[in-house]
Amino acid sequence: KLEAVIFDLDGVITDTAEHHYLAWKAIGDELNLPFTREFNENLKGVSRLESLRLLLSLSPVELKYTDEELHALAERKNELYKELIASIKPSDVLPGILPLLEDLKARGIKTAIASASKNAFAVIGNLQMEQYFDIIVDAAKIKNSKPDPEVFLSAAQQLGVKPQSCVGVEDAVAGVDAILAANMTAIAIGNKDHFPHAHHTYSSTEELNAQELIEIHQRTAA
Ligand code: G6P
Ligand code: MG
Repeated sequence: KLEAVIFDLDGVITDTAEHHYLAWKAIGDELNLPFTREFNENLKGVSRLESLRLLLSLSPVELKYTDEELHALAERKNELYKELIASIKPSDVLPGILPLLEDLKARGIKTAIASASKNAFAVIGNLQMEQYFDIIVDAAKIKNSKPDPEVFLSAAQQLGVKPQSCVGVEDAVAGVDAILAANMTAIAIGNKDHFPHAHHTYSSTEELNAQELIEIHQRTAA
């Protein structure tokens, strides 16, 4: 039985995947790296420092940065990102999300956020959505980043439900892998070709609905 739906934040609840992309793009341009939207798919769901490593791997020559320099670059990306998210407002929640959360609540299905971002509470605060989630797990509370299942398992545990009773919703390849590793039903949002392993892919959050999630979970739960 479906007992909880656990949502990724960036790119699922609101379009902060775009803000992360723009901030990394600015850093990439400064360093003359051939950073594209296609390559950015690999950064989605991935921690800040690991994202930076992936970005720097685009250099044709080996870049030698000290740990201090790496942290300074990551910090600068974060400053750009924080400027971009400062103007997020309640109307920036993606289509279909609020009706879905309300429908899940009406059906007694719990909800949580499982985010790899240290800015998760700021984003949810700007959206004024704290009251919609039973539990919020962010990067500050976990040791292992997606695709490790820790953030999803921790959310399920705090909700008091078994992983097999959960559906996870993600827009990132690393995130879908984390959901599958957690033994949950994996719903992807985006281009179907990016998510061959997801149990179901929707092209937009607008298509999400509680009844269908219940049915997909029933078909696929471990
Ligand atoms: C999410 C996003 C990633 C981001 C990561 C860390 O997983 O999808 O793009 O790199 O969080 O975010 P932070 O806000 O801590 O830099
Ligand atoms: Mg995401």
